[in-house]
Amino acid sequence: MAWAAIWQRGPEQGWDDGQMKLLVCGGAGFIGSTFVRLRLLEHGDEVTVLDKLTYAGREENFHDFAEHPRFHFRRGAIEDPAAVAAALEASSPEAIVNFAAETHVDRSIAEPDAFVSTHALGTYVLLEAARTHALRYLQVSTDEVYGSIEQGPFTEHSPLRPSSPYSATKAGADLLVQSYFHTYQLPALICRGSNNYGPYQYPEKLIPLMILNALQGDALPVYGDGMQVRNWIHSTDFAGAIGHVLEHGAIGEVYNAGGPDEQANIAVVNRIVELSGADQSQIEHVSDRPGHDRRYSLSSEKVRALGWNPRVRFSDGLEQTVAWYRDNPWWWEPIRSGDYREYYERQYGRSLG
Ligand code: NAD
Ligand code: TYD
Repeated sequence: MAWAAIWQRGPEQGWDDGQMKLLVCGGAGFIGSTFVRLRLLEHGDEVTVLDKLTYAGREENFHDFAEHPRFHFRRGAIEDPAAVAAALEASSPEAIVNFAAETHVDRSIAEPDAFVSTHALGTYVLLEAARTHALRYLQVSTDEVYGSIEQGPFTEHSPLRPSSPYSATKAGADLLVQSYFHTYQLPALICRGSNNYGPYQYPEKLIPLMILNALQGDALPVYGDGMQVRNWIHSTDFAGAIGHVLEHGAIGEVYNAGGPDEQANIAVVNRIVELSGADQSQIEHVSDRPGHDRRYSLSSEKVRALGWNPRVRFSDGLEQTVAWYRDNPWWWEPIRSGDYREYYERQYGRSLG
């Protein structure tokens, strides 16, 4: 499917016609900016982004809608009550959608501090603001809160057994959201996605890291045996699920949105080698991640019953994603020549070429 077709999905694919005013926290990141693009360009919503612009948040991600009259950007942290109050005052939204998070498991193992403050304190500040202004609130969450599963998928009733500081603090945030529904009847929802991939993903994550290393002739560092399995969802599909849950979900409920395909990491890396014209000899098995979850898998039956379905199969989406990175060095060259190099050396014990 061409990118244009993805952006131009219309009501016939299940979208509602109503327009909303949204405060999107963390909207300068990978999935947040994809969600903003969909809501602005397809849905006609008015969107204000509140984002701290950490290393992962980039105004470059707004490049194709920065000047849109219904788009507004404010730099600020969700754990800062004054910044949140000012953003609400300026935007008068009907709903808050919270993507803001530290999102990389390896960084959470090395330096958990920001994960605790953004996920625990930041979510609390946003919930208080939503309570004060009686706003609908959607928390964007992850399948990682359920932990690892050997066989079959997790459902919304599966117990939370997070295993990394990333997933544990995301689980804590989810529980806080649920407590605000039960205690204060805050109209809150949670949407948990499986592993996302697609354009604009920061290259610390498996797929963009491997694509850029493959294209640049660097080693492809596969953790352990590479047989860990992830349930891949295209970022436009997850963004669509979040909008769908916001509009059609029952308040107080959790909705899982998993992708249509599962793949072992080594199979993903082998396919990226083929698609990018790299060499198999670039693949290197390196030390495994501590506490590495073996497999993630999500049942999406509940959100499918609301009328959402993923549209992008992994084989097509991966091919398009490799092409996007190949064609858009303006987006990733500043990252790869900046602080990311130091992160890479710390994490992998070697330099990028
Ligand atoms: P990302 O790392 O690309 O972006 C995170 C964004 O949040 C950045 O723009 C960053 O600047 C902003 N941010 C971080 N801390 C902030 C703070 N304290 N205040 C305000 N803004 C802050 O992340 P992503 O991959 O787009 O993930 C977005 C959300 O989706 C996260 O909540 C994540 O847990 C969830 N999620 C991600 C995946 C995935 O595979 N990437 C899967 C399921 C769920
Ligand atoms: P990642 O993209 O970090 O997402 P998550 O840990 O949230 O699932 O990693 C996806 C999988 O790829 C995970 O099993 C770890 C593995 N991986 C590697 O093998 N090498 C790498 O360099 C990275 C970043 C990840």
